[in-house]
Amino acid sequence: MQLMITRFFALLLISIVMISCRGQLSDKPPIHPQQNMHDQERFNAQQENPFFENNMAMRPPVEGTVARGLLRHDVALFEGQDEDGNYITENPMELNRDFLNRGRQMYDIYCAMCHGGTGDGQGIIMTGDYGYVPAPTFHRSASYEMPEGELYSAIANGIRNMPAYNTQIKVEDRWAIVAYIRALQESQNVRETEMDRYDVDLAELRQIYTEEREREEALAAARAVGADETVSVERGERLYVQNACNACHSTDGTDLVGPTFAGLYGSERNFTDGTSQIADEDYIIESIVEPEVLIVEGYDNVMAAYTHLSQSELESLVEFIRSLSDN
Ligand code: HEC
Ligand code: HEC
Repeated sequence: MQLMITRFFALLLISIVMISCRGQLSDKPPIHPQQNMHDQERFNAQQENPFFENNMAMRPPVEGTVARGLLRHDVALFEGQDEDGNYITENPMELNRDFLNRGRQMYDIYCAMCHGGTGDGQGIIMTGDYGYVPAPTFHRSASYEMPEGELYSAIANGIRNMPAYNTQIKVEDRWAIVAYIRALQESQNVRETEMDRYDVDLAELRQIYTEEREREEALAAARAVGADETVSVERGERLYVQNACNACHSTDGTDLVGPTFAGLYGSERNFTDGTSQIADEDYIIESIVEPEVLIVEGYDNVMAAYTHLSQSELESLVEFIRSLSDN
């Protein structure tokens, strides 16, 4: 009798094992002897539920709930601002060599093609005829005075015509880039007498610099041969678009980043230094090649210098601007 019971249980065990292991892959749902956990009553997404006062089965999160990992109460870190909304003037991250190297990496990936490897605004996109708004150099007083928080904000939110990079660049990396821009600024302002603090071969640097200058001059000379010397309104209008002046200056009176060109020629201009002047040819050319000298009242000093335009190109732009005035 006892033997029979043992055999019975042994058989039962074997059959259970065989049911649960079918031995090969199958598309069919597994066999569930017990279904009551599987088919329970539940509510679908967006379904009604009269149990609650507002009849919503889905309960909204308690007010003030923040999703995991999205708590951004540190405004200095995430917005680059202090409690009063002013830009902070110090990098909130710990500065060390690894962090700077990270900044360099990120800068070379995301900024160098426009702002240039050294931050001089001569990135590859700016040197071709792509018609993009010129990226300002980081080696001018306006950029030196820019607080770290504003540099951060330029990456996070974009600035004027420059798009935001917040979806591509993480918060820590944005600060690493800010630190690296500061390092770039330092790097361009070392006195020769202080160079022995650095592990560089000054003679070699001079050699590279001279060669680069010679190459550039040869290129400019080659371009000047057979260059278009015509001065016309039509050429000026083409240059206005090609050089992206239209990103900041309208021709129909609309105020963009800069003053409109409509009615500009011959009108009196007032500047932030308290002086004023009639907009004639000399003034307009100076405004294009040295825009930082006179800043029109009510506007920011943000226009990059257009140093690559030839005399006939500048004069064509003047003719075009003149054509937008009655006088
Ligand atoms: C596609 C070209 C392009 C890229 C890439 C780019 N910028 Fe810019 N940036 C510009 C242009 C153009 C302006 C000027 C916009 C204007 O004045 O309307 C500008 C302006 C700025 C300014 C304001 C400078 C000033 O003096 O007013 C800062 C700061 C800046 N960029 C930082 C960065 C950083 C940091 C990166 C990389 C994360 C970056 N930019 C990537 C084109 C670019
Ligand atoms: C990134 C925006 C921007 C771009 C691009 C730009 N400018 Fe400007 N420009 C300004 C701003 C802002 C001012 C006013 C502040 C100042 O005087 O620098 C200005 C001032 C001027 C003025 C003086 C205007 C006045 O009301 O007295 C002239 C002329 C001018 N720009 C010509 C040009 C030309 C030509 C181009 C293209 C080759 C150009 N700008 C491209 C922003 C820009």
